[in-house]
Amino acid sequence: MKKILIIGANGQLGADINTSLSNKNYITLTPNHEELDITNFEKVTKYILQNKPEIIINTAAYHQVDKCEEFPLLATLINNNAPTFISKLCKEINCKLIHFSTDYVFDGAKGKPYLETDLPNPLNVYGKTKYEGEKEILKANGNALIIRVSALYGVNPCRAKNGLNFIQLMLKLASERDELTVVGDEYVSPTATYDIANILPEIIKKDLSGIVHLTSEGSCSWYEFAKEIMDYTDTNVKIKQVASSHFPAKTTRPKYSVLENQSLKNNGIQSMPHWRNALHIYLNTIKK
Ligand SMILES: NC(=O)c1ccc[n+]([C@@H]2O[C@H](COP(=O)([O-])OP(=O)(O)OC[C@H]3O[C@@H](n4cnc5c(N)ncnc54)[C@H](OP(=O)(O)O)[C@@H]3O)[C@@H](O)[C@H]2O)c1
Repeated sequence: MKKILIIGANGQLGADINTSLSNKNYITLTPNHEELDITNFEKVTKYILQNKPEIIINTAAYHQVDKCEEFPLLATLINNNAPTFISKLCKEINCKLIHFSTDYVFDGAKGKPYLETDLPNPLNVYGKTKYEGEKEILKANGNALIIRVSALYGVNPCRAKNGLNFIQLMLKLASERDELTVVGDEYVSPTATYDIANILPEIIKKDLSGIVHLTSEGSCSWYEFAKEIMDYTDTNVKIKQVASSHFPAKTTRPKYSVLENQSLKNNGIQSMPHWRNALHIYLNTIKK
């Protein structure tokens, strides 16, 4: 049985990955942030050399987009320097590294789903540090795999976003207000974390390296996503569609960061669900 170290295992994505891999009989090591801080290179080296995982999955990130603008050095340390250090170590000990990245590496100008081969051009510090991290990780270790995901939601709380994902936030606001104001000019592919986690064993088996996009099929604006949430749950609230410029924008975000799962398809890996079906399943799950 392979031993896998999951970094960020109590995060919304990491927790589902742990469940999925444990169910497939992998041995998972799940230290929390306090037990294994990836910015403490000495501790990271000691932990990895002592525990000898065969695969390391890094879901840890500094991904509060506005805070990244404020603290770019910390964003660089967590999103680039630390995973690059882990990547070099993995190369030395022949351990597979799977690292999670983001749709925010793109600027949105393409207006069509981004392929793995498209050239990123991040608009903000978060996207820039993640993109630099991708390049450095692969430069250090060509066997590493970068998985780009988008607009995550899951049954476990997002640690970095005060525990509420977009769906929970919209439902909470709808219970408190008569009208919601939602951005209609930013397009994404909202993706359930357990859909990513469930496909991961197949990706591990294929031993892919390089860059892979892994999101729900189809795309929607945040407004369309909010509307579907309210329609499906029969929630009676008005939703006003506004441009992103309506909100005093702290940080520039891409208007269109939809990813095409081309590598997944080329490698014959099972397809991801359409975002609408995935949302319905999630809403049924949290209702229970
Ligand atoms: N959430 C999204 O919508 C989204 C979209 C695109 C890409 N992504 C990417 O997907 C990945 C997972 O995101 P998520 O939503 O699961 O985030 P999350 O719920 O905030 O989980 C992140 C995990 O990383 C841990 N962590 C943070 N800094 C660390 C450090 N220095 N050392 C060790 N552990 C650390 C956190 O622990 P503590 O909470 O205890 O600090 C937490 O367990 C990230 O790489 C992110 O960039 C997310």
